[in-house]
Amino acid sequence: MSTPHVSRLTAEHLVETLGVGTSIPRLSWWTETATPGWMQAAYEFQVTDPDAGVHRTGLIRSSDSVLVPWPTQPLRSRQRCDVAVRVVGDDGGESEWSAPLTVEAGLLDVDDWQAIFVGPGWDEDVESAQPCPYLRRQFTAGGRVVRARLYVTALGVYEVEVNGRRIGDHVLAPGWTSYHHQLRSDTFDVTDAVHEGDNVIGIVIGDGWYRGALADDLRRNRYGDRLAALCQLELLLVDGSSMIVATDDRWVATTGPIRASGLYEGEAYDARADLAGWSAPGFDDSAWTPVTRVHHELATLRGPIAPPIRVTERLHPIEITTSPSGRTIVDFGQNLVGVVELTVRGNAGTEITLRHAEVLQDGELCTEPLRNAEATDHYVLRGGGTETWHPRFTFHGFRYAEVSGWPGDLAVDDLTALVVHTDMRRTGWFECSDDRVNRLHENVVWGMRGNFVGIPTDCPQRDERLGWTGDIGVFAPTASYLYDCAGLLQTWLRDLAAEQRDDGTVPWVVPDSLEWLLPAAVWGDAAVTVPSTVHQCFGDVGLLADQYESMRAWVELELARAGDDLLWTGDFQFADWLDPTGAHGDAFDQRTDPDLLATAAMIHSLDLLGAAATRIGRHDDATRYRAVARDARAAFAHEYVTPSGRLASDAQTAYALAIAFRLLHSDIQRSRAGERLAALAHRSQLKIATGFVGTPLICDALTDTGHVDVAYGLLLQDACPSWLYPVACGATTIWERWDAITADGRVNEDGIGMLSFNHYALGAVADWLHRVVGGLAPAEPGWRRLRIAPQPGGGLEWASSRLDTPYGPASSSWEIGGDGALVVRALVPPNTTADVVLPGRTEVFEVGSGDHEWTVGFDPPESASSDRSWRDGVPEHEAEQPASGERG
Ligand code: BGC
Repeated sequence: MSTPHVSRLTAEHLVETLGVGTSIPRLSWWTETATPGWMQAAYEFQVTDPDAGVHRTGLIRSSDSVLVPWPTQPLRSRQRCDVAVRVVGDDGGESEWSAPLTVEAGLLDVDDWQAIFVGPGWDEDVESAQPCPYLRRQFTAGGRVVRARLYVTALGVYEVEVNGRRIGDHVLAPGWTSYHHQLRSDTFDVTDAVHEGDNVIGIVIGDGWYRGALADDLRRNRYGDRLAALCQLELLLVDGSSMIVATDDRWVATTGPIRASGLYEGEAYDARADLAGWSAPGFDDSAWTPVTRVHHELATLRGPIAPPIRVTERLHPIEITTSPSGRTIVDFGQNLVGVVELTVRGNAGTEITLRHAEVLQDGELCTEPLRNAEATDHYVLRGGGTETWHPRFTFHGFRYAEVSGWPGDLAVDDLTALVVHTDMRRTGWFECSDDRVNRLHENVVWGMRGNFVGIPTDCPQRDERLGWTGDIGVFAPTASYLYDCAGLLQTWLRDLAAEQRDDGTVPWVVPDSLEWLLPAAVWGDAAVTVPSTVHQCFGDVGLLADQYESMRAWVELELARAGDDLLWTGDFQFADWLDPTGAHGDAFDQRTDPDLLATAAMIHSLDLLGAAATRIGRHDDATRYRAVARDARAAFAHEYVTPSGRLASDAQTAYALAIAFRLLHSDIQRSRAGERLAALAHRSQLKIATGFVGTPLICDALTDTGHVDVAYGLLLQDACPSWLYPVACGATTIWERWDAITADGRVNEDGIGMLSFNHYALGAVADWLHRVVGGLAPAEPGWRRLRIAPQPGGGLEWASSRLDTPYGPASSSWEIGGDGALVVRALVPPNTTADVVLPGRTEVFEVGSGDHEWTVGFDPPESASSDRSWRDGVPEHEAEQPASGERG
């Protein structure tokens, strides 16, 4: 028996626990042990509060270790304590106390704030980008500072400095939320930055999402037309006295070097107007003007429940070339989201312009897909030395930058791309013996990074970048595997619920920034599917309870739209958006009947809602929604399914929905539907013939009906449209449309207004890679029980899935040895169990935590893609013309 060891104690979904926004943060931990089959029998908390002393809970008999309730009195604002946990295994072995986790509450009550929102007092033309305001306040600390906390946020996006030093490393803070419902405020420990004597706090604010142009109508001032900061510095001095410096009428403001900034437009910076020393004592601010008060409800303030946005990586260009027209083009080798930092020497007044694009056409920057996003930064040199600069209040989606006005020769070391996104913890990895599939997976990861800048967006580059519900609805399972995105999704779901209409309608985008709105299946169903995914992947029942009314309101709306026959028909639907077999350029031209799809989505949400109701103890609701789901299934079958398993829409998405959402009545129907789906996939020459809704489901639907070989065939297809076609074209992210680059290597100018090269939705196949190819899936919410069931195929020689689950690291991998034997290895975290199904077997057996290895004889399934009759043409009995849009 080895001694268990507790590691990774966290509060809520946060790694950083300074300024938490709840008084009762839930706690989670991992246990590490070499003892196989280890289960937790009990735990004990120790909470050390400098004022109240040490409180021990005594042993609590429970196997819970994920999001366990706060063990003592609720935290008061500013209260700081150290929490430690120890565990006892069911073998009696006891751990030591864990390393303590310091949790400090932020300002939890409106009354804690003495600060008021203040902004520049001058008149502005709010219909165009304005110079960014700089705000400052000098003050004197009358003694040595032993503790200093800065509580801060803004209407706009801000950076804060104390005594000439940037505080924190957050980018585009406070991010984007539905500001009238929740506005994030952050807490910084600035004890080292504030001194006895004169000090200065300075804040600079950009338009950001608050009042900058947003959505394709480029409307400004969606939340308000006045930028403002809210800042409260609280000092504890050595003599025990305290002092608060807060934004109020005594602050002064001016404009400076940031002449204009916009998320879509880019930033213009004139370094000749630098305000050297503006946030340090002694700066002459006599020409600055008084600030004015700006009204914003303090009740909207929330401490963080997600990590901040940060620079997470720095990339140098891989190449600098001259385009046919003589322009300087920089290639960063990766389509990414962020900004370019430059280091330059030159004469004062020299202006450098940086334009950005994801792709080149004819060797020149191709900016048409950006639509009205100018994505252009300007820097005017101060002169007289080395200058390093990057824009602060914008971001671009780009792989290439065009640089003009550079003084002298531009070298690779002069430029760095700063990769910007919410700083989530990476949790999941997948690898296999086919490097093309590995690149596909890497492209999905980059797609997630670029589109998780505060909220989950459709795309990060054009005049859109919105929280499209349908996109995250289908991508959430993949996202939850790759990164710990629970906090980010929780923040976003709160906005979804807040912005949901009284009749249950869910905005198409959250935060809502479009002018029109109709209930639409799958997109609106995100109100149900996303919380269910977060619960499934992170074990957060509290989130389910918080979102329950929102989930219920959406499903009730679906039922109302469906009416007595329980068939949702006749309404506007995005449906199987971007089905590539439809007419090119018409995202609504689809093979699957939108009514069939809408009813299928409704039934799936009824199932998820019923399960959520059970989970949170709403048993009457659970009974009702289960019964309605049963009736709706019967209605669906009556309307859309023939007795022998054909569907009214003889389309792949229709079959994928019917199989994945269990809408077929008998095993025979199900197996016939699977056969038909496989046949249709072959008829499409194993190219993609499904849109946003069907593509994330089709591989599972094929796998679950015994056609994993066909799923592999789809995966490994590299003719257009397919997952590997963009990889073959050199893609480094997932595209919105498969044929964004045509066979001759050109950007497809057809439908250029919807040609994002960084759209994660169709990358949702990565979830299938993790669960089916690698073989690692949750069998119970939160990974308390795992399912290890790899299904090798496609000619792959090995594959591996790894995940840092809420209980600890887990993995499943397999490799085919020279003798045809197949070795499966698994790592099951302590305090969990796993159901195992070995390749080629049907029996399920259970194992406990620890390392496992099995060797089985294995007869690989015939690979659909390696069968020449499938690869080169349709099989004879299914002969039909190939689908349009393939590579020439
Ligand atoms: C977005 C999508 C979104 C769709 C719905 C597009 O403009 O980029 O990904 O889901 O609109 O209509």
